[in-house]
Amino acid sequence: MIANLEVCDTPETVAHRAADIIEATTRAKPDASLLIATGNTPMLTYAELARRDLDMSRVCAVQLDDYLGIDDEDPRSLYGWLQRSFVEPLGVTRVLRFDPLAPDPQLACEQYAQAVRKLGGIDLAVLGLGPNGHLGFNEPPSNASAPTRSVTLSEASLRSNASYWRGKDVPKSALTAGMDVILAARVRLLLVTGAHKRDILRRVLSEPVTPEVPASYLREGSLTVVADREAAC
Ligand code: F6R
Repeated sequence: MIANLEVCDTPETVAHRAADIIEATTRAKPDASLLIATGNTPMLTYAELARRDLDMSRVCAVQLDDYLGIDDEDPRSLYGWLQRSFVEPLGVTRVLRFDPLAPDPQLACEQYAQAVRKLGGIDLAVLGLGPNGHLGFNEPPSNASAPTRSVTLSEASLRSNASYWRGKDVPKSALTAGMDVILAARVRLLLVTGAHKRDILRRVLSEPVTPEVPASYLREGSLTVVADREAAC
């Protein structure tokens, strides 16, 4: 399967195009389940969506990942980031989230996976690309059937996440939607911007599919990549 690669001039035009895709999904299915990444890349997209006259009150925002052991009041909470960037500006009222304080993380992951199944799966996954090819926090090596689980963050992820929380430690473990959940999404949208993602995007799109680059599995189904020129050329 060849990924549909759309190259836009700038991160802002990536955001417009991505917002068009998300808007079309939610207009066609107002109660769509959307798997939502945080991180820097999709922020312009969520801001663009918030500028549009959309009724997102019935969609279900499904959290892609969170740090383990971090409460909601902690500035590093990815749930907090999801709330500020997506849920609140868009008036979303349904959220399926991880419990980062669960005494039994494995059980919390099973409950999350079961709740996703009860939703009927994911209609649209909005994903960023880790510098090491991770999706959510499915770190290399992760194969296509890797389940929702707690993980130890790789050195590459600790480094890239450090830029989010200047002066604070990056939590060393996380809960992530499994590759199985991500790959079963009916529409997969991968957003990639910046020259620092050029090499990993090339590996995702052009090198053999491998657990060493978890995002490469996206090519085995239908995939839309929206990238800016810096990342794609
Ligand atoms: C965030 C997430 C991560 C990021 C990825 C890219 O919820 O799941 O996989 O999407 O690390 O991060 P940015 O966009 O900051 O380069």
